[in-house]
Formats: sequence, structure tokens, C-alpha cells
Amino acid sequence: MRRIAVYPGSFDPVTMGHLDIIERANRIFDKVIVAVFHNPNKDPLFTMEERVDMLGKVLQDFDGVEVDSFQGLLTDYLKQKGAGVMIRGLRAVSDFEAELQMASMNKKLAPELETVFMMTNTKYAYLSSSLIKEVASFRGCIKELVPDDIVPKVIERLKEKGKLIDKEEC
Ligand code: PNS
Repeated sequence: MRRIAVYPGSFDPVTMGHLDIIERANRIFDKVIVAVFHNPNKDPLFTMEERVDMLGKVLQDFDGVEVDSFQGLLTDYLKQKGAGVMIRGLRAVSDFEAELQMASMNKKLAPELETVFMMTNTKYAYLSSSLIKEVASFRGCIKELVPDDIVPKVIERLKEKGKLIDKEEC
């Protein structure tokens, strides 16, 4: 039986912390589907298509990893994909409460599915997409925190949205 896992998230944008989890999950599961969630209630920096495209490029050399997007319930998406596991990265204790709540709700919705938590590499424990956007908007250096190709995209998009303050680039 092939073990298929889904790694869901907003990925707005993908960070080195996400990549680390994907790389490690890829060693455990036969197939990892990185699934970008389309949340109609959020105003993301990048469109869903752009996030899927960026992930696709960053992950093009990862055998066994597929990039997709989904709307609606995560549990329904897993069933549709024939996946038995959803992967979530845990950074600090502060993540635990929300993750426990989500995992418990997903268990209630679909008892046959499992949430597997992976501890984030301590190197990236402080990283989040929101913090990346905040730091970049104030012209802080985000190199080595997101894949190289993503750095100019974040800066460019913040500029387009009028969210970049004037200062020398890093
Ligand atoms: O990267 P994020 O924003 O922490 O990811 C959150 C995500 C996409 C995993 C979560 O919001 C989700 O699963 N959304 C799908 C809708 C759903 O199933 N909601 C009930 C979750 S208990």
C-alpha cells in the first residue's frame, strides 16, 4: 500500500522551515502532496496560482512530492486524494494549542485519518510566513529564510501593494 501524506498550508510565501518539513516527510512517505489552501477570508500576498507555481519550481527536483491546491475541508481533500495522513510542523509550544484543536476537529470529522506532527528544525523554529512579510516590508533581510528565487518576488509584491518602506535593499 502506498502511503500518501498531505502537507497543507497557506505557504504565503513558502519558507525554509516548510521546505525542511517537506524534505523530511518525503523520506517517510511514498508520496507527499503539498496542498495550498485557498482561504476566501484572507487577503494573501500571493494568489493561490502564484503560490502553487512558486512551490512547484522550488520542489521540482523532489521526487515523490506533488504540489496542488484545495478549497473546503482538509479532511475531504485527503479522502479525495486517497491520503491517510496530514502533516503539520510544530515550532514552539505556542503552536501546540491551535494544532491540537485542529487535529482534534479533523479526527472528529474523519476518524480514519491521522495528523502527524513533525518538530520544525530548531534552525527555523522562529520562522513564519507572516514574520517574513513583516520583516521584508521594513526592508529587513529575508535571505536564507525563504528560497533564493522567492526573495525578490516578496519584495516586488510588497512594493506593488504599497507595503514596502523606503530603505536600501539588503
Ligand atoms: O499554513 P496555515 O495557514 O497554518 O494552514 C492552515 C490550514 C490550511 C492547514 C487550515 O486552515 C485548514 O486545514 N484549512 C482547511 C479548511 C478546514 O478543513 N478547516 C477545518 C480545520 S480543523
